[in-house]
Amino acid sequence: MAEIAGDFAELISGDELKAAALRYIGEMRAKIERDQNGLHSVFDSWFTRVLGQLIQFDPTRAWEDSVRERVIRAPAQFGGLQWDLHRLRQFLDRWRQGRFVDYARREQSGTHYHPRFGTEFGADVLLTCQGAPSLMRWRGIPLMKNVFDFAMYPMLIGELRPHTIIEIGSGLGASALWFADHLVMNGIDGHVHSVDRVRAEAAHPHVTFHQGDCADPARLFEPGLLQAAPHPWLVIEDAHHNVAGVIEHFHTFLEPGDYLIVEDSDIKREALRGFVGAHPGDYLVDTRYTDNFGRNATCAADAIFVRMEEPDGE
Ligand SMILES: C[S@@+](CC[C@H](N)C(=O)[O-])C[C@H]1O[C@@H](n2cnc3c(N)ncnc32)[C@H](O)[C@@H]1O
Repeated sequence: MAEIAGDFAELISGDELKAAALRYIGEMRAKIERDQNGLHSVFDSWFTRVLGQLIQFDPTRAWEDSVRERVIRAPAQFGGLQWDLHRLRQFLDRWRQGRFVDYARREQSGTHYHPRFGTEFGADVLLTCQGAPSLMRWRGIPLMKNVFDFAMYPMLIGELRPHTIIEIGSGLGASALWFADHLVMNGIDGHVHSVDRVRAEAAHPHVTFHQGDCADPARLFEPGLLQAAPHPWLVIEDAHHNVAGVIEHFHTFLEPGDYLIVEDSDIKREALRGFVGAHPGDYLVDTRYTDNFGRNATCAADAIFVRMEEPDGE
């Protein structure tokens, strides 16, 4: 990764790290009072404990140096704190970047994480988080989502309140039914359009299953459907075929505030680089959803995009 330029490659450290930790704990305390009725989450408790230990070190030295020195002297005693400090640095490095982050910057700062998936955790979690040996089911139908996305999508639907959900790749139809149930549960007047090479057989009053082939994106849906579908939209690419062509097709219909999610994105990075490169500033990664359960704790690693306002009248 020698081509990585600038401070994105450097994990936050030294005085910047200390300042960010103090800023974050202020925000965290306010959140605990405002949103959690004074109750600490596991993460809140962990952060408080680790910071409490770090601020006892010599204030004139970087925490990284103080901890490293102690690990050399007493590895059994301080090895855990070294791990804590690394996780704290990773977290604050993300936090300082803000919620909406450029795709290139995400890729660059991914160097501090899993080499393939850019996750905070390893392939062991990814291997089983969709269910092993059994998939989860929704309304009795196997659902091809992992446990992180099973929590992420309802949060996003609740915040975005999409009037149209477009799914490319219906599978057995469970995911479209699941999205529609979340529309109903949130009292959202919305509809799901889900397309597959073979029309799914499931049924739901808020879902229309379509038959279409990603090889010809313009004909995935009947003429006029996309022009008429009310915004905001949540578009999910989950067919893994002609990804570049499919997302480029949807670009012409997406409006500011709409979301585009590309699932299993680790195998689609070339298409994504081309797409965001062709539309500079139009799409940012919403890290509230990619990272809420740890960096890239989603099958849509770096690929939960929000369509931004057009910067220059494109
Ligand atoms: C991973 S599955 C979708 C899973 C489903 N969305 C879920 O979460 O349960 C991918 C689907 O994409 C469909 N697919 C693959 N190639 C396609 C193409 N060229 N056009 C349309 N659909 C395609 C497959 O038939 C398959 O049902």
